[in-house]
Formats: sequence, structure tokens, C-alpha cells
Amino acid sequence: MDLKAEIKRLAKERDAVILAHNYQPDEIQEIADIAGDSLGLSIEAAKTTNKVIVFCGVHFMAETASMLAPEKTVLLPRMDAGCPMADMITGEKLAEFKAQHPGAVTVCYVNSTAEVKAQSDLCCTSGNAVNVIKSIQADRILFVPDKNLGHYVQRFTDKEIILYPGFCPIHNRVTVPEIQQLKREHPDAVVVAHPECPPSVVDIADHVCSTSGIYSYCKESPAQKFIIATETGVGYRLRLENPEKTFLFAYEGFTCKNMKKTSLQDVYDCLLNMGNVVKVDAETARKAVTCIEKMLAIPR
Ligand code: 13P
Ligand code: SF4
Repeated sequence: MDLKAEIKRLAKERDAVILAHNYQPDEIQEIADIAGDSLGLSIEAAKTTNKVIVFCGVHFMAETASMLAPEKTVLLPRMDAGCPMADMITGEKLAEFKAQHPGAVTVCYVNSTAEVKAQSDLCCTSGNAVNVIKSIQADRILFVPDKNLGHYVQRFTDKEIILYPGFCPIHNRVTVPEIQQLKREHPDAVVVAHPECPPSVVDIADHVCSTSGIYSYCKESPAQKFIIATETGVGYRLRLENPEKTFLFAYEGFTCKNMKKTSLQDVYDCLLNMGNVVKVDAETARKAVTCIEKMLAIPR
């Protein structure tokens, strides 16, 4: 069976749109109708006219899509594809954190559960975090769960950003000596980092942006070589759009195993069985969707 053709056929039959995050395996990005970063895919989910959304990504992404498009059926090809950073904070832990800092505005990174979003004032992604923080009329902001993204946005504001100690294990693992070694071997390479990287790596990066931001930056840059400090999935489109340029990843095995769980068979199976439906309970969704919608009103 030609799985790719069968997925396309079934998707049409089910009136489904296939969304894929930029970290998904190459063959998943290839069959997707739209690939993008967290912000881009949330926008697509909110505006799609299809009845079904197949979200090739991790759980919080499908949850966000389901809250933005409650009348659609959202399928996650792998129910066990989670985000360890999102799991570093629970609703209970956030309530404790808020109690320790009364009066502060709470901003949650989109990499968080619906339960956490339901207790937050505003949401952000790596693509709009700086603008989201700038839009807030308060002096103290609790930023959860990513301490590295929180530290990054602190560079652009005088407001006090109080950090929660969460992090992405894949991005937090990258070190300055690894980048310096690559720079020694390729002195003409430009360093592009995701803001989930540690502050020391952000300090030495030439450019810091979301995964989709990396595509536009590398395409427009006159440089021929890039050291990329994010998940290797972005290599698919980088190589496709810039066949003459070289992309080196900051360390060997810069991969998110949760993002890589999705296979073509999983996509086919969930479309065939209309299984793996992600749905947030109505009360949590009602509270959580407000902070996501407020975020979508702020430009990237
Ligand atoms: P982007 O929003 O930049 O795509 O990042 C999502 C993510 O999970 C990064 O690890
Ligand atoms: Fe979560 Fe990190 Fe994977 Fe992104 S790369 S989904 S933040 S574990």
C-alpha cells in the first residue's frame, strides 16, 4: 500500500487538514497540508474550514487546537507524544507559584497543559513572546514554565520577569563549548538559536527566533553556512529551500523523541479509525481559551 497516497485519500474523504510541527519527521512534513511553528499552527487550527484536524505534533499542541476550534475533531496520531517541559508544571504547582507572588500577571508558554493555561492571564509562543510581554501593563510578570524563554524576554523589558524553573531537556542540553568548537571548524558559519536554549548560548547566537523564524532568517541571510541550535526537524525545510547552503546542528542528536514518534502508519491509522481524539473538558477549555485568544490578537 502506498501509505502517503492512502493518507491523502482518507484525509479528503474525512474532510481533514493535516498540520505538522517543524520538528516532525521529514516524511510527515512532506504529507502535511501545512507545516509550521506553534504560533502558525494555532492560527491555522483557529481558521480551518475542515471538519477534522490531524495534529502531527505533541499533546499540548493538539489540545490548543481543540480549544481554538471546539467544533472540529482534533486527532493526535500518537497519544503518547508529550512535551516534558509542559509536564514540569501542573495546575497545582502554578497555584502555589501564584500564591508566592500575589498581584503579578501570569504568562504561560504555549508549551503547557490546558489546566495551566486556564490559570494564566496570557499565553505566548516563541514567535511572539517579546510582543506579548510588551503588551502587558504591569510591573511584575510570572513566566511559566520555560526559564530560558523567560530569561530571553527579560532582555527586552524593564518589567520584572519572575521565572519558573522549567526547561526543555533537548534545548537546555546545548552548551557554549559545543558551539565554539563548531565555530572554530566553520568560522564563516552564522549561529541561529531557539530561545529555549540556555542564556549563555543565546548570548553568543547571531540570531534568536522561533522555528519558522529560522526558515525566513536563513533564506534571507547572505551567509552560506549556519549552526542551528534547535531540533533537527527544521533541517528538512532548510535543505529544501536552500539547497546551496550548509546547515550544521549544534550537537549530535539534537532531537525531541516525542516529536519523532509520529509515523505515516500512525497518521493513516488515526484517520482510518478516527481515533486518538483530543478534547479538553468544557470548563477548563472555557477558562484556558481566553489567554490563547488574547495572544492571537497580538502580532508576531
Ligand atoms: P516553536 O513554537 O518555535 O515551533 O517551538 C515549539 C517547541 O516545542 C520548541 O521546542
Ligand atoms: Fe517539548 Fe522540547 Fe520537544 Fe519542544 S523540543 S516539544 S519543548 S521537549
